[in-house]
Amino acid sequence: MVATSVSPNVVSSTPSVSPLSPFSFYSSSFSSSSSFVSFQPSYNYRPCSLRLYTNTHFRTSSKSKGLKVKCSVSEPLKVMISGAPASGKGTQSQLLVNKFGLIHISTGDILRAEVSSGTEIGKKAKEYMNAGLLVPDEIVTAMVTARLLCEDAKTKGWLLDGYPRSFNQAQSLEKLKIRPDLYVILDVPDETLIDRCIGRRLDPVTGKIYHLTSFLPKTEEIRARLITRPDDNEEKVKSRLEIYKQNAEAILSTYSNILKKVNGNRSKEEVFAEIESFVSQVQKDKEKAIKSGKPTLGSVSQLKQLSTSQDNWRGIPTRLNNIPHSREIRKYFYEDVLQATQRAINDGRTRLKVEINIPELNPEMDVYRIGTLMELVRVIALSFADDGKHVKVCVQGPMGEGALAGMPLQLAGTRKILEFMDWGDYGAIGTFINIGSIGANEVDEQDDLFILVAPQNAVGNCIIDDLRAMTDAAGERPVVLINPRLKDLPGSSGIMQTMGRDKRLEYAASFELCYFFRLLYYAGTQYPIMGALRMSYPYRYELYKRVDEPSGKEKYVILSTFPQRPSTDEVNDAFIGKTRAQKEESGIWGFLSGIF
Ligand code: AP5
Repeated sequence: MVATSVSPNVVSSTPSVSPLSPFSFYSSSFSSSSSFVSFQPSYNYRPCSLRLYTNTHFRTSSKSKGLKVKCSVSEPLKVMISGAPASGKGTQSQLLVNKFGLIHISTGDILRAEVSSGTEIGKKAKEYMNAGLLVPDEIVTAMVTARLLCEDAKTKGWLLDGYPRSFNQAQSLEKLKIRPDLYVILDVPDETLIDRCIGRRLDPVTGKIYHLTSFLPKTEEIRARLITRPDDNEEKVKSRLEIYKQNAEAILSTYSNILKKVNGNRSKEEVFAEIESFVSQVQKDKEKAIKSGKPTLGSVSQLKQLSTSQDNWRGIPTRLNNIPHSREIRKYFYEDVLQATQRAINDGRTRLKVEINIPELNPEMDVYRIGTLMELVRVIALSFADDGKHVKVCVQGPMGEGALAGMPLQLAGTRKILEFMDWGDYGAIGTFINIGSIGANEVDEQDDLFILVAPQNAVGNCIIDDLRAMTDAAGERPVVLINPRLKDLPGSSGIMQTMGRDKRLEYAASFELCYFFRLLYYAGTQYPIMGALRMSYPYRYELYKRVDEPSGKEKYVILSTFPQRPSTDEVNDAFIGKTRAQKEESGIWGFLSGIF
């Protein structure tokens, strides 16, 4: 949906791209039709052939100079280089290719070549590039995946430069199980970046990158033919930089476990020396792993077998007892929940629930903030809407009438808040996102997905029957419960219905957890945090211990993982580090009862 207009979107929609038909993508960005079309490679983009364009802005970095390190044939290197515009990706890529013989795949270069050759793709990409905006995902993703699946990239290894540039692009690669061994980020201050862009000149014959002050060509002949990129003026550079910043963090979460941040504000030789040492190390590790028969991180089929601590996750943020939670902490959890939900829905799961109990989302704590819950719901709803899904966000209304009307206090006024919230500038609300209540009559034909905001029983009333009627009507469409509280409340005089209780609870339990997060404390306290329990679909439960560091900082270290949600005893045992038999002697530890 978002990608249909030229706007500096943070994330844009990415249809799934089949590796078998790399030239197929949705035409929705270019025409009013949303049908699936197949682009024939009528233009001269042949992904698997080596191209040398003359009179284009194409960087050729396939020629090798100097010592070339041979990659292991069975496990070629896969590297991504990322960074803001002009952070030096292209410059470092040339050096890396010379040294490691990798196939350099630069989306910027491929697109510029298309533009120069006047191809259909080039014409479409040009307006975005010249405006300093991202070219729609479907164009770029098709090109990149086609190139990555070529034989030379598979055998020699690859260096991906300028892709992925959005969360959706990163997810497209994840879906295709294409993962790098190393993700390098070049870090350069904004002022330097702008100066570098404005001074950059390209040699259209060799593809070499120069700079008007810091790196001039040696001969007058080369100097005379240098060209300036159309997107290298101050205004466009600022726009590119802004778009980069908006997307960078979301991509980092995908590659956190293989990420190396490099100070790119040094001479290119110094920068290269550091990157080279990382790449060489990865190469050695891969070779060692192959010899020993152990899996390496980059091997996707093997990756799934490893703990989720090696998954695309950045570790638990610290200072979670500080209220209000910082924006970073909130964003972090929204992202974490979103990824788990997306994975579960992509796997065809339709009855899901999220349980996240950081202090601001824990109704049992007086620091509970309804705004945080609403923001979480908005992030999830917008993300699916960005993919063209019609999302219905539902909050239960008062149940019963008159004196019997019951509504959980916590949800009172929530619907109004949702209606007044900022849902982005592209008119998602009322079109791709609609707000409704809980019940069968809320299910419309056009709805693709239902998000239910904290559905819960109120004293005297049970939401489960409405919920069941709604899920029956929704059929195979996903229904996601965010922080549900569906256990029957104890009634003082049998006020909560008891008829059919077992069946209701059985139904409530039929929702599968796709995300769980809970902080752990000593029994009866809310301070200090002792650790955390996290599960993110489809991975195992992970138990973490919070550790104070001498610097006054803190960190979470993983203690154990569990295929199912661990019992309080299992958690205590893991903290004590004792077997069940030994545990009886201890008796010091005891976490909040009833939390599991
Ligand atoms: P792209 O070409 O990838 O542009 P970019 O990311 O903005 O990066 P640059 O090429 O500007 O810089 P660089 O980091 O390679 O720096 P360089 O080595 O040249 O993409 C262009 C456009 O294509 C995008 O805006 C977008 O529209 C589209 N696009 C591309 N990928 C896309 C995707 N995945 N999705 C959607 N759209 C996409 O160095 C810059 C200058 O600095 C040079 O002059 C160099 O000599 C100098 N320099 C480099 N290193 C140093 C150093 N260490 N010290 C001093 N000077 C240095």
